[in-house]
Amino acid sequence: MTTTTGDRILNFSAGPATLPEPVLRQAQTDLWNIDGSGIGICEHSHRGPVFDTVLQETVEDCRKVGNIPDEFEILFLQGGASLQFAMLAMNFIGDGQTANYLDTGVWTTKAIKEAKKIGNVHVAFDGSTCNYDHCPQDNEIDAIDGASYMHYCSNNTIYGTRFANAPTSNAPMICDMSSDIFSRAINWKNHDMVYAGAQKNLGPSGTVLVVIKKTLLDACPSGLPSTLDYSAIAAKGSRLNTPPTFGIYLMGQVFKWILAEGGLREMELRNERKAGMIYHALDSNSDFYTTFARECCRSRMNIAFKTRSPELDASFLEESAKLGMSGLKGHRDLGGLRSSIYNAFPEDGCARFAEFLESFAATH
Ligand SMILES: Cc1ncc(COP(=O)(O)O)c(C=O)c1O
Repeated sequence: MTTTTGDRILNFSAGPATLPEPVLRQAQTDLWNIDGSGIGICEHSHRGPVFDTVLQETVEDCRKVGNIPDEFEILFLQGGASLQFAMLAMNFIGDGQTANYLDTGVWTTKAIKEAKKIGNVHVAFDGSTCNYDHCPQDNEIDAIDGASYMHYCSNNTIYGTRFANAPTSNAPMICDMSSDIFSRAINWKNHDMVYAGAQKNLGPSGTVLVVIKKTLLDACPSGLPSTLDYSAIAAKGSRLNTPPTFGIYLMGQVFKWILAEGGLREMELRNERKAGMIYHALDSNSDFYTTFARECCRSRMNIAFKTRSPELDASFLEESAKLGMSGLKGHRDLGGLRSSIYNAFPEDGCARFAEFLESFAATH
């Protein structure tokens, strides 16, 4: 079920973002008293039996949802996706080594900046030369041989671009999937580590999902602070210190919701339909709206566009707000407008938004 009922409005925020309604309802109950324990989820010890079950089920359901092979470890971390920018470089750029990075937008630029503080970085694709309007095909990537890894971002939240297919690399592949994790199937043969901040498709901000190949854990150097060392965290099953218990619980509920809805196949079909309605409304009024991404790389999660002028963009925001639509302002780096429609964003909300796009163009 993806409807918006009662006193809630359509939230197009890029993140933190809309969560599934059944998940929020369950969380309301479990915050007070989970599993008849007489204690709320946030009040349970992270080493007690109730949280043991939550963690175990969250890991198992995550594996089921993502079809994650056994050779990958599933970890829950904190510090947001941005901490991963530094942490993965600390763990995997060895002495004198270089990592390949694909720069496809604001978040990858930040990942590169952080990694450069730790080691050598080679920018194998520089999207700034085309205003980040697309993600590269393999023949546009100029990677160096013998790199410690290649890093890319599957979906660029701000520019609204995505890799239709993952790039390929001889080096281990690490992907920031913060804004499209579990919106479609993941090819695990192509990836050695995937990470995602929770606040778009998974749960509350601050919590991070890391799926990492066990063999990559062997490359973690000794001597790192243990809270920044993937192998130390994996050795303790994500409980090296107090983990983000509520974040893990809520992710677990989101995984149960995805499974109940029909899994990633259903999410992907739904996301295609949802984005399709909006792109269709934009494309059929192409004299009025300009979309940002090249067609080959259009995101199904974040749709960045603008009207004919900043003044009209402002009226668009005002008029949509009156209809109970919020979070449509474009990111400050790009301006214009953006609708973010992650897994939990209701399909009927996309239909209503597409109608609004049509009527706004007609009346202005
Ligand atoms: C693709 C991507 N990567 C990284 C981040 C940073 O996430 P966090 O704020 O959790 O550090 C974001 C934030 O929106 C994002 O969209």
